[in-house]
Amino acid sequence: MNIIITGASSGIGYETALKLSTEPGNKVLAIARSEDKLMQLHERSKVLNPNSELIPFAFDIAHSDYKELDHLLGKLNEIDILINNAGLMIKKPFLELEEQDWTSIFSVNLFGPVKLIRKLSPYMGKIQTSHIVNISSMGGFQGSVKFPGLTAYAASKAALSNLTEVLAAEFQDKNIKVNCLAIGSVETSMLANTFPDYKAPLTASEMADFISDFSLQGYKYFNGKVLPVALSTP
Ligand SMILES: NC(=O)c1ccc[n+]([C@@H]2O[C@H](COP(=O)([O-])OP(=O)(O)OC[C@H]3O[C@@H](n4cnc5c(N)ncnc54)[C@H](OP(=O)(O)O)[C@@H]3O)[C@@H](O)[C@H]2O)c1
Repeated sequence: MNIIITGASSGIGYETALKLSTEPGNKVLAIARSEDKLMQLHERSKVLNPNSELIPFAFDIAHSDYKELDHLLGKLNEIDILINNAGLMIKKPFLELEEQDWTSIFSVNLFGPVKLIRKLSPYMGKIQTSHIVNISSMGGFQGSVKFPGLTAYAASKAALSNLTEVLAAEFQDKNIKVNCLAIGSVETSMLANTFPDYKAPLTASEMADFISDFSLQGYKYFNGKVLPVALSTP
């Protein structure tokens, strides 16, 4: 499987990239801005499985020139799985959020996935069914418990969830399935920075187990679905 995952330099994305790259037969293009951390991921992947194929690629999904991807895409040719995992969270009361905060959050959480899907979809579904997995949040899942200070973040994740549903309908004839995982809290630096006193029920590695399996198999059972992946009830 040829797999592209964003936000692979830390947390859930790091663990998911590691898991998928160390499974035989997978080639993983791991995207994030921090080149150093991606190189560490690459080394760890090689330690766990010397035959692993992980390509670290320093790229800013919000600001980089998407033409930078052309060379790699030419080599990969077919993309089986795209996991839009990179995310940005800013916690501030609504009235203190500045326009730049809204722009930053939507640039990473919504327009990043939009630009990637536009760029990558011509390489998907050509030989076999491809799967796009968007990583959203319970914060963007209708009816779930909400937390003050997350209006911009939750709105961006809700938009990503909705995009998933419509895009799946639009891609129906393209052999590309699109799903969204609205995940609950997971022990990562994003959560620790935002809610320092909160203890999440899952580690990044545990969530990565689920996301990896879902990316590989979920398209057989789901399309255009926004699935809550949380231990607490909404
Ligand atoms: N942890 C939770 O409790 C939780 C709950 C619900 C949803 N989520 C979602 O799960 C996903 C992963 O979150 P996490 O908790 O693992 O957070 P994290 O540890 O902070 O990881 C975020 C990742 O996104 C990357 N990233 C941020 N901006 C980027 C950009 N412009 N271009 C490319 N990569 C960028 C970061 O890498 P660089 O800084 O190197 O670019 C990093 O690898 C996010 O979408 C988040 O919203 C998390």
